[in-house]
Amino acid sequence: MSKVIQAVRGMNDLLPEVVAVWQRVEQIASTVLTAYGYHEIRLPLVEKAELYARSIGQVTDIVEKEMYTFEDRNGDSLSLRPEGTAGCVRAGVEHGLLHNQIQRLWYAGPMFRHERPQKGRYRQFHQIGVEAFGMAGPDLDAELILLTARLWRELGVQEQLVLQLNSLGTPASRAVYREELVRYLSANRGSLDEDSLRRLETNPLRVLDSKNPALADTIARAPSVLEYLDDGSRRHFDDLRGYLDAAGVAMHINSRLVRGLDYYTRTVFEWVSGALGAQGTVCAGGRYDGLVEKLGGQPTPAAGFALGMERLVEIVNKHGLSSSMVVPQVYIVALGEAARGPGLSLAESLRDTGLQVQMNCSGGSLKSQLKRADRSGARFAVLCDDRERETGVVKSLRTEEPQQEMHYTAMAAYLRQKIQ
Ligand code: HAM
Repeated sequence: MSKVIQAVRGMNDLLPEVVAVWQRVEQIASTVLTAYGYHEIRLPLVEKAELYARSIGQVTDIVEKEMYTFEDRNGDSLSLRPEGTAGCVRAGVEHGLLHNQIQRLWYAGPMFRHERPQKGRYRQFHQIGVEAFGMAGPDLDAELILLTARLWRELGVQEQLVLQLNSLGTPASRAVYREELVRYLSANRGSLDEDSLRRLETNPLRVLDSKNPALADTIARAPSVLEYLDDGSRRHFDDLRGYLDAAGVAMHINSRLVRGLDYYTRTVFEWVSGALGAQGTVCAGGRYDGLVEKLGGQPTPAAGFALGMERLVEIVNKHGLSSSMVVPQVYIVALGEAARGPGLSLAESLRDTGLQVQMNCSGGSLKSQLKRADRSGARFAVLCDDRERETGVVKSLRTEEPQQEMHYTAMAAYLRQKIQ
C-alpha cells in the first residue's frame, strides 16, 4: 500500500459536520453585516510581499517570522495573505473606492501565518473582516463594536466575550510615549526576558504584550499610553466610551492592549473569551487613519476588525446556538434495478417543489435502504418499485402514522403539507 499523505501541519480539514456550524455562523454574520450597510468584497489570497511589510510593519512577528513568502516563476516576491486589511486597502486604492468616499466593506476567507500550531492557533485560519473608510469620528468606532456585540447576541455567545478597549493616540503622541516607555524599560532591564530585550530595541510597545508571568509586575508598573494622548485622541476616546456606555456595552479599559500590527492609531479593541485558554482573542481591530496614505492613496480615515472563525465556532459550539447539518426531508427507496429510473425522476420532481430529497443510489434490500433512510435524518421515506411506476408508498420515519400509497403526482403536495 502507498504511504498516506497527510495535511500540512496547522492546516485543517473542515469535515461536513463542522461545516454546518460554520455555514450557520457565516450566514448570521452576513445578515448582521448587511443590516448595518456593509458590502462584501472578495480579494486575492496572494499579494506582493512588500504590501505587508509596508502596512503591518517590518518589525512585527507577522512580517519577521510568520509569512508564507515565495518567489513565483517571474521572480516576484509574493506572500499568502496573513490578514485582510492590507489587501482591502490596496484594492480600495487601486480601484478608486476610497478618495472622498464612504465605504463599508467586509470579507471572509482563509489567512496564513506560520505560527507554532496549538489549540486556537493554526497556520491556515479563517477570518471575517470588516473595513470602513472615510469616517473619522468615534461614532464609527462605536458602530463597529455595536455590530460585533449584536453578532455575539445573535449567536448566543454574548456572555462569553469581554470587550477590551484602549487608545494608542496619534503617531506623534505615541512617539512621546514610546520614549517614556523605553526609558522605563531600560531602567528595568534586569527584569526583562530575552524576547522583551529584543523588542525593547525594535518595537518597545510590544513588550507590553508579553505573556511571561515573570514580567507581569514590570508591565503593570510601566507608564500608561492613555496618559500621553493628545487632546484630539483623548476626546475621541472619551466620546467612544460615552457612546458605548449609552448603548449598554460593558468594557474593560486596558492600557496594555497594543496589538501586533503597526498600522493602528487611536482606538484599538479586542473581544476576549475566558473559555478558550491561551488563544482567547476572538475578534480584534481598531482605527488605522494613516494606512491608506501609506499605501499610496489620499489621506483617508479608516477602522475595522477581524474575527477568527475557528475560535468563534469553538465558543458557539460550547455555549451558543446548537446547529446541526441540513438533513434531507425525504429519502427515496428504490426497490430493484427497474425502480432506479422512476426513483430519480420522482426525486427531481419533488426537488422542483422545494423539498430536500436524498436518493438511495447504492441499491440494497428494503431493510437496508430503510436503515440508511433512518440514518440520513429524513422524516419520510418514499418507496418506489418497478411494478407500480406511477405510485409509491410514503412512510413516516419519525412517527407511528400509517403508511400511505399514492400517485406520484399527489406526493409533493402531501409531503409539503406534512413537513411544514
Ligand atoms: P489579528 O489580531 O492579527 O488582526 O487577527 C484577528 C483575529 O484573527 C484574532 O483575534 C484571532 O481570532 C484570529 N487569528 C489570528 N491569528 C490566528 C491564528 N494563527 N489561528 C487562528 N486564529 C487566528 C488582524 O488580522 C487585523 N487585520 C484586524 C483588523 C481589521 N484591524 C482592522 N481591520
